[in-house]
Amino acid sequence: MRKYTDSEIRAFGLNPERIPKHIAIVMDGNGRWATDRGLPRAAGHRAGVNALREIIRFCSDIGVESLTLYAFSTENRRRPKEEIGILCGLLIEYFNREIDELHANAVRIKSIGDLSWFPPAVREAVQNAMTKTAENAGLKLNIALNYGGRAELVHAARLALEHGEPLDEGTLSKYLDTADSGDVDLMIRTGGELRVSNFLLWQIAYAELYFTDTKWPDFTREELIKALNDFAGRERRFGGLKTDGAK
Ligand code: FPP
Repeated sequence: MRKYTDSEIRAFGLNPERIPKHIAIVMDGNGRWATDRGLPRAAGHRAGVNALREIIRFCSDIGVESLTLYAFSTENRRRPKEEIGILCGLLIEYFNREIDELHANAVRIKSIGDLSWFPPAVREAVQNAMTKTAENAGLKLNIALNYGGRAELVHAARLALEHGEPLDEGTLSKYLDTADSGDVDLMIRTGGELRVSNFLLWQIAYAELYFTDTKWPDFTREELIKALNDFAGRERRFGGLKTDGAK
């Protein structure tokens, strides 16, 4: 489903053999980006949505298999009502406006987290996007909405118990919201904070972490290429030794 050939990927300065299968991004810094420019925070979120378009497209084109984005954490519910309303409006707008292009690119959209908290219009826009793209075989785009990693783990454990299955690593992995995307290879956090913030706690066990001061609205394709090259240069041992055949 990817658009670029190996040589085209190399032309971006990337190694096609070292593209992470699963990238997770904490898109932080929208508010500060706006404040730096004397703009309302809403303008930062809007600019953040624009940045998102380029990143999703590029990940899809270079053959990343899964991209998981932190759009709204359970903690974000503590933000002022007005900002939550703005974020909800942007979500509806985003899903309605982008869905055709994402679908044309075979992107499969899935929301992770507890959607039931959102107003019906958000739920409907997200649900429509999921239904429309459910059979697509390209980039798996997981959008975390009202998501928390601990809650996801508790939920997975409950499901395993309900099904009478043994509580082991395999079972728990199977009942995670991101079960079909597997472990995260590269987690990126923009905006300068060095935190994980309850995102994909289980899935990042062996992830390479990449932190940048760049605020999310300024995270362009070139910034992503920097992160991908940083990832490509890391030696991944998964707890083993370099010589024992670990990737
Ligand atoms: C963090 O910036 C960003 C968020 C809480 C929301 C991220 C949302 C988007 C990029 C847009 C909506 C998403 C989709 C999928 C359409 P912040 O407000 O915490 O920034 P700050 O730390 O500078 O205040």
